[in-house]
Amino acid sequence: MTIQEEIAELKSRRNAVILAHNYERGEVQDVADYTGDSLELARKATQVEADTIVFCGVYFMAETAAILNPDKTVLIPDATAGCPMADMITGEQLREMKRKHPGAKAVCYVNSTAEVKAECDICVTSGNAEKVMRTFAPEEEIIFVPDQHLGGFVAAKLGVKYVLWPGYCPTHARLTAKMIEDARAKYPGAPVMVHPECAKDVRDAADQVLSTGGMCKLVRTSEAKTILVGTELGICHRLRKENPDKTFIPVAEHLVCPNMKKTTLEKLRDALRDMAPQVTVAPEIAGPARRAIERMLEIA
Ligand code: 13P
Ligand code: SF4
Repeated sequence: MTIQEEIAELKSRRNAVILAHNYERGEVQDVADYTGDSLELARKATQVEADTIVFCGVYFMAETAAILNPDKTVLIPDATAGCPMADMITGEQLREMKRKHPGAKAVCYVNSTAEVKAECDICVTSGNAEKVMRTFAPEEEIIFVPDQHLGGFVAAKLGVKYVLWPGYCPTHARLTAKMIEDARAKYPGAPVMVHPECAKDVRDAADQVLSTGGMCKLVRTSEAKTILVGTELGICHRLRKENPDKTFIPVAEHLVCPNMKKTTLEKLRDALRDMAPQVTVAPEIAGPARRAIERMLEIA
């Protein structure tokens, strides 16, 4: 039996569904029932009928699925697959910020811990941040955590200022405007798309700033035959599979999120076999965190 067959057999025995983020290894994406960005997967987690969700992604994503599905078993193949940006702010640091800005609304990027979500009025993902933030009056004071880049990107689009936490993604921080310039010189005319977690000068050097789901949608209708991709390399697997007539060139070959790569087929099989590691969230945190996520899902 191949490992893919073992996974399929265990999946049906456990009545499980496999969700995988667009940055996961190609072979993991290939055995998943659904592949998507953070927003698509959070939404999918609310729609599946399975008893068990195996979340191939980083911890905050599996935690979001667990918060939205208190009656399901949520498994993560490697529980050490964290997101360093999510860990850049603690619940206590956010409470301190709120004390300094009484009356401000607190908004968190979905790349945050359940404890931070529980302290927030609403949550956003890179796929819906602009739409969600438009629901606030321009004069409203907003605390935005943890990603300074996504926060800065949306604030600039809406012509407002947020109180930003200085968090960032260490993987996207490795992409520079010079790398985009070099890639453009090598592939003249090819459009460049980058993720909003990139720094401002990098975003300014690109043609499109999109969530990973936004990138997958855009390329389907793009007339360009060669597209330069400024985000984590895992997405190229899906882009190539879905668009065999197009060429996708990573702007930088070292844009690899080590945590997304921790999930392997072996760990996925073992998680289904052992029904572990399970992701659970204490009810006193899950309740308020769920409100922040559900408010977001209602808007976008
Ligand atoms: P997306 O929601 O665009 O998939 O982004 C998630 C993420 O962690 C990007 O680094
Ligand atoms: Fe976190 Fe960055 Fe990895 Fe996304 S790519 S999971 S933001 S470290």
